[in-house]
Amino acid sequence: MLFKGDNVSGNSQETSQISTPSTPIQPLRVAVVGLGRMGMIHALHMHELASENGLCSLAAVSTIDRNAADRFLSLSGSATPVFDDIEALAKSNLCDVAIIATNTELHREHALTMIQAGCRVFLEKPLTGTLEGDRAFAALLERAHPDAVMLGFQRRFDAPLGYAKQLIDEGVIGRIFKIYSALEDSGPAPNGFLSPGILPDMGIHNVDEIVWLTGRKPVSALSIGSRIFSHSHTTAHEDFDDALMLLDFGDELIGQLQVSRNHVSGYRGETVIYGERGQIRIGRFNQNQHEVIVEAYGMREASQPIALKSFETRRYSQPLPEFIDRFGAAYKQELKVFLECCRDSEPFPITHRDGLCAQEIVAAAMKASIRKQDMAAIDYAEQRR
Ligand SMILES: NC(=O)c1ccc[n+]([C@@H]2O[C@H](COP(=O)([O-])OP(=O)(O)OC[C@H]3O[C@@H](n4cnc5c(N)ncnc54)[C@H](O)[C@@H]3O)[C@@H](O)[C@H]2O)c1
Repeated sequence: MLFKGDNVSGNSQETSQISTPSTPIQPLRVAVVGLGRMGMIHALHMHELASENGLCSLAAVSTIDRNAADRFLSLSGSATPVFDDIEALAKSNLCDVAIIATNTELHREHALTMIQAGCRVFLEKPLTGTLEGDRAFAALLERAHPDAVMLGFQRRFDAPLGYAKQLIDEGVIGRIFKIYSALEDSGPAPNGFLSPGILPDMGIHNVDEIVWLTGRKPVSALSIGSRIFSHSHTTAHEDFDDALMLLDFGDELIGQLQVSRNHVSGYRGETVIYGERGQIRIGRFNQNQHEVIVEAYGMREASQPIALKSFETRRYSQPLPEFIDRFGAAYKQELKVFLECCRDSEPFPITHRDGLCAQEIVAAAMKASIRKQDMAAIDYAEQRR
């Protein structure tokens, strides 16, 4: 059903099962499902892409949150139809493609609803947030809709990380033997946020980043989780507010990951890539969120960095979540690529297969999870006296 006051035309049709994407029409009619933190920014970017290159038009949004609908309508100044029910959106025949940015536990249901209505779908990460859920969903997609889903790992579209990957691929630091990737929020997940756990929710970004940058998959993993600080400042329930992961690639390559919601001074995203002939650093913490520096250093004797580039991040004219300050341009670029693939009937560069791979790694690390009770007590001589 439409929210009262919305005006729309479009024919209802029965939902039908299809296994291939519908033939796109120009411009692609886009629906955004979920208008929370991510949905709102995806809708904004869709608006911009529509006016910049005519690739798409924002045809409808769907949300169960009336306030979010009002906020969206007033921010966009548009008369975009707003549905309060995804089933009605699916039957409306108003859209060719859909952006799904609802709570993780609804991803499978919502993605399938729109796929069965003939849409190709951009789905926010993670796929489902659990290993069993991901395996079942990925198997179904593989069987019936192998080209229907693009997954939202926006780091792969981030200019600073892309530059670092170029340096790696050019061999400027030689063979890589260690990669460290950190993602720290300045505060807890917001009240009401539904998280599958800090590693499937946040760490999955770093895991995918490491797999992408190295072009390799680890063979084993472990994790360490703690509840330190911010968990007591939110109603959102999460297993840990701080976690570490170690990834072993089996032959002199390791990955180290750090995620937390306790970096009270501001959002922190840093990656350090260690090679036999130098290292590449992406991002160093700075309360000025609008500059990301990528620097590469050679061996100790060298007096100059071998590469140094500063990237200005996008400034939005409204206050937005801190991760959007850092990754805004990447979020927009991933949507542009999604639309281009839909227009050209091309496969997506990131799919359910990448989501499942990252979740398999996260799940293995969570299986080998070290907690306080697993730690060795320290045997101080002074206490034995
Ligand atoms: N790529 C990233 O960097 C990134 C960052 C944050 C969140 N995310 C992902 O995006 C997704 C959403 O996260 P968020 O932070 O925006 O959460 P959020 O809680 O702010 O938003 C979720 C929205 O979904 C809406 N919703 C729930 N049921 C609905 C339904 N049946 N129909 C329509 N709307 C419905 C809720 O009203 C809410 O507004 C999650 O899967 C999360 O993991 C990705």
